[in-house]
Amino acid sequence: MNLVSISENKEIEKRLAITPEIAKKYINLGLKLSLPENYGLHLGFSDEDYKNLGVDFLENEKDIINRADIIVQLGLLDEERQSFLKENQILIGSLNAISNEQKLKKLKLKKINCFSLELLPRITRAQSMDILSSQANLAGYKAVIEAFQIYERAIPMMMTAAGTIPAAKVLVIGAGVAGLQAIATAKRMGAVVFATDVRMASKEQVESLGGKFLSVDGSENLETDGGYAKEASEEFKKKQEELLSETLKKIDIIICTALIPGREAPKIIKEEMFKNLQKGSIIYDLAATQGGNTAFTEADKIVEKNGVKILGETNILNKLPVSASNLYSKNVFNFISNLYDKENNKININLEDEIIEKTLIK
Ligand code: NAI
Repeated sequence: MNLVSISENKEIEKRLAITPEIAKKYINLGLKLSLPENYGLHLGFSDEDYKNLGVDFLENEKDIINRADIIVQLGLLDEERQSFLKENQILIGSLNAISNEQKLKKLKLKKINCFSLELLPRITRAQSMDILSSQANLAGYKAVIEAFQIYERAIPMMMTAAGTIPAAKVLVIGAGVAGLQAIATAKRMGAVVFATDVRMASKEQVESLGGKFLSVDGSENLETDGGYAKEASEEFKKKQEELLSETLKKIDIIICTALIPGREAPKIIKEEMFKNLQKGSIIYDLAATQGGNTAFTEADKIVEKNGVKILGETNILNKLPVSASNLYSKNVFNFISNLYDKENNKININLEDEIIEKTLIK
């Protein structure tokens, strides 16, 4: 069974689908690995590191894809590389099934089995494969580090002979995986942290990390069976706006992470709310990929409004690609281990397995 990966477009994606540590695991599992030259060099993984483990290196991408039973990537291959794919091959990655629906349909017609890992069910058995969680955790951490770096004041409270510096006040909007890691990181650095979410379950999680949860008065639980958020009602949005408008007056840094799967991100910090923010405040908007949580977020730009800087980040994982690749490649390995029947050396697409059924593009 041949497993391969080809280089991503490094201008937009610095992560790797197979690190040397994971290459070793695939080989131990009985798979043959092929990669293109300089596959991991930009992250400090030389071809020798892989070759010493038994990985083959080929110059030509078409040859690599040709010999593959399984291809593992970050994003979907571009059109030219998709044209190299053949019947019965398996493509695994974070393929963005919703935005790439038409392209994936075409691959399905060519009888290529595509598995898109952002569709994994949030169940206990899938936790070790959960790319959304592993990457969101790192994103939440890095968002805080980046925002604190730009903020022109100190974060923890400091009592000095020259006077006291108050602790920075951070508001985290959306307390899912990224938001909870942002809360934990900001707390560790000495900030006072507030957070809000539409799912009731997140209140206890925020409080267990030492954050103060801002509950919208009389709010119902807006959680789907899959654990995601539902679109809030107009009444809820109004109450949330009132609550946050008051809170913003004392906040220094906002980390936005609120998302609704398959939808545009909810606009939570509206234009008129900006007048309540203090000059010098920072907003770091991780929801920028889906339009952002503020009225002024622009993807991959720093926008300044009333003395407030708004950073709209779309691929923060490129800022810690080694850690992100380590976790991502381990997630994919765990997914493939579940798919691979070692005894018979074949892939077993068992549609009774919820993990396989939910991720396979149909
Ligand atoms: P996400 O990235 O889709 O959304 C981030 C957060 O934004 C969510 O907590 C959501 O409730 C919140 N949000 C959406 N609209 C909002 C609004 N208008 N105002 C404030 N907050 C808003 O979610 P993520 O981080 O991927 O987590 C989704 C769920 O999956 C959570 O329930 C989490 O606990 C669960 N989960 C379960 C795992 C498991 O294996 N059992 C593993 C990882 C996550």
